[in-house]
Amino acid sequence: MVRVQVPATTANLGPGFDCLGMALQLYNSVEMSVTPSGLLIEVQGEGSPDIPRNEDNLVYQAALKVFKQAGYRPPGLKIKLNNNIPVARGLGSSTACIVGGMIAANIISGNHLNQKDIINLAYGMEGHPDNVCAAIIGGIVVAVPADGEVRCLKIPPPKNLRAAVTIPEFPLFTRTSREVLPQQVPMSDVIFNLGRVALLVSALYTGDINQFGVAMEDRVHQPYRTTLVPGMKKVFAAAKLAGAKGITLSGAGPAIIAYSDGNMELIARVMRDTFRQNGVPAKSMILGISPVGARALEIK
Ligand code: HSE
Repeated sequence: MVRVQVPATTANLGPGFDCLGMALQLYNSVEMSVTPSGLLIEVQGEGSPDIPRNEDNLVYQAALKVFKQAGYRPPGLKIKLNNNIPVARGLGSSTACIVGGMIAANIISGNHLNQKDIINLAYGMEGHPDNVCAAIIGGIVVAVPADGEVRCLKIPPPKNLRAAVTIPEFPLFTRTSREVLPQQVPMSDVIFNLGRVALLVSALYTGDINQFGVAMEDRVHQPYRTTLVPGMKKVFAAAKLAGAKGITLSGAGPAIIAYSDGNMELIARVMRDTFRQNGVPAKSMILGISPVGARALEIK
C-alpha cells in the first residue's frame, strides 16, 4: 500500500499564463494497493458524489500510463481518495488526481520513472505544465514546454506570503474557460504581460511583495474570463481596498486569490462578501504556500 499526498495548485499567478504555478497548503491524498483482482475505488470529501468509481476515474487513468511505461500490470487495484481540494474551481483538483495517481503507481511498479519523467507524462495528460510542475515539486514554479519536454525551475516562496483563496459555489471547467480566449491578442497586451511576468519573477525571488499590485496584472486571459465569473472585477477591487498586495484569478477560475502578508481574515471576508453581493455564494480559505510537492507519506 502506498499513500501519496498532493498539494492544491494555482496557475498563472496573473500574467504568467500557462507558465507560472504555485503549490498551496491544502492536500488530497491518494492511497493505492494491489489486490488479487478487479478495481475498487473509494472516494471521500470534495466532489465525492460525482467522481467516477470505474475505469474512467482520472487517478486510475493516470496510474495506467505509469504502469504501461513500467511494463507492469497489477492483477487488481484498490484506490482510496481523500479529497480536500474543491473540484473544478481553479485549484488544481484534476492535476492532483493525475499527479497522485502517477506517483502512487510509480512506487507500486518499482520506481521506474524519475521526477522529470512524471512531470512530462503528467503534462501530456493535462496539456499545460503550470499546475503539474507546482504539484510535483512544490513552492512556486516557472514551467515551460520546450523540445518535447518540460523545463521547470522552482522559486523559493517569499517569507510570510499567504493566500486568501475565495471559492465560488459554482464549478468552471478549464475547457470552458479556455474556449473564451481569443486565438490572437494585440502586441501591446503581449508587451504588457511580458514586463509583468519578468517583474513578478524578480519580485518573488527578492521577496518584494509590494510589487505584486502591478506584477500580477494581466491582459492575456483574465479580461476574457470575467464574463464567466460574476462579480470578478468587484472582488478584485474589494480585495485591493482591504489591503491585498496582488490579486489573480486562480488558474482558469472561478476561485480568486489575493496575496498578502497580513490582514488575511479581513481580505478573505471582504472578497467573500463581495461575491455574495453579486449573487455568488462563496467560501474562503487562508492558505500558506506549500514548500513541498507531492510525496509518499506511507509505503507498506
Ligand atoms: N493555465 C491554465 C489556464 C490553468 O489558465 O487555462 C488551468 O488550470
